Amino acid sequence: MSQDPLHTKLCDQLGVEYPIVAFTHCKDVAVSVINSGGFAVLGEAMHTPEDIEADIKWIRDRVDGRPFGIDLVLPASAPAEASLDEITAKIPESHREYEQMIMKKYDVPMPKQAVDLHQWGGLNQALGRAQLEVLLEERVPVIASGLGSPAFLLDAAHERGCKVWGLVGRTRQAKRQIEAGVDAVIAQGFDAAGHTGDMGTLSIVAEVSAIAGDTPIIAAGGITTGRHLAAALCLGASGVWTGTLWLACRESDVDMIIKERLVAASADDTTWSDSISGFTMRVLKCPWTEEWKKPDAPRPLESPYQMILSSDYIQGSNDGRRADLMTEASGQGVGFVTEMKPARQIVFDMVEEALGTFDDVVGLPE
Ligand SMILES: Cc1cc2nc3c(=O)[nH]c(=O)nc-3n(C[C@H](O)[C@H](O)[C@H](O)COP(=O)(O)O)c2cc1C
Repeated sequence: MSQDPLHTKLCDQLGVEYPIVAFTHCKDVAVSVINSGGFAVLGEAMHTPEDIEADIKWIRDRVDGRPFGIDLVLPASAPAEASLDEITAKIPESHREYEQMIMKKYDVPMPKQAVDLHQWGGLNQALGRAQLEVLLEERVPVIASGLGSPAFLLDAAHERGCKVWGLVGRTRQAKRQIEAGVDAVIAQGFDAAGHTGDMGTLSIVAEVSAIAGDTPIIAAGGITTGRHLAAALCLGASGVWTGTLWLACRESDVDMIIKERLVAASADDTTWSDSISGFTMRVLKCPWTEEWKKPDAPRPLESPYQMILSSDYIQGSNDGRRADLMTEASGQGVGFVTEMKPARQIVFDMVEEALGTFDDVVGLPE
């Protein structure tokens, strides 16, 4: 065994100390993880190109030259150029009626202002491309695509010195991306928060690692402890990509109502549903997800139609701070999120527990 089981080829690719990647929408969390020796990828799929540019500068001003990543969604299924109004007009009446039934039954407040989905990169391909242009222009160290293969942008990214990572839920997607030449593949299992396929983390990480060759594999889905990190490395991964772990941390800007629910939650409190965005997604159970599971419910629409249909419920619940209605993406590892710790402490606790695990199992050299 090498001196340090946590020093992996992902650490070498990035020049970071620990193979821990935080996926977050919160810039303060990202900066804290980066400055603690980990790596962070900021989710920017909902932001305008101008906001993305400002966020990149904000991070750069605080990390002393350390690398970071930005994540977009680039789904091939998104319409080429359709406007929000054109897409909204295609939502069937039956689905509108079901939405209205839920809104009335639970007395869901209307959003304080109209939900702005105009900038969601998954709305149409032109928006996703405009966001991507900023990342290339700014030479962001890592460009990650959480939805949709990033293979088409490899040449442009590599010419500018940017690494490209793709997130997959199937081994065949990983194979295609590895063959195309991505710099790392995030193998994400069913346990994960947010959009996820139906293959378990244990299975996908092992399968993708087996075909990866020299490409680093990053394990995702349900990873919230140092034991998970150690296990992921044993399966062949070179690091972990984590989302749920950071939602309730001290720096996180997530609503305190959700933070408290996460700290109290276990895997059973999450559900896998395509009723929010039209893609299957793991979230905390809420009336919206449970109503769409009923036998008389219409089949949820595809993305981006279902995303538009659910937006008043999601935004109204958040604006009204209705604990009984609110939801958030959450993975099955949430049971180990039991405190609102600073992000720095989460990194160090994870490292210490992983090293302790390796020591327990095989004994680390003195
Ligand atoms: C609140 C939240 C929002 C997310 N949104 C996105 C997103 O916009 N794009 C993306 O690629 N992944 C998104 N994810 C998924 C994460 O990238 C990551 O794959 C997932 O959280 C890993 O599983 P874990 O939460 O069990 O660690 C989100 C996760 C959370 C917790």
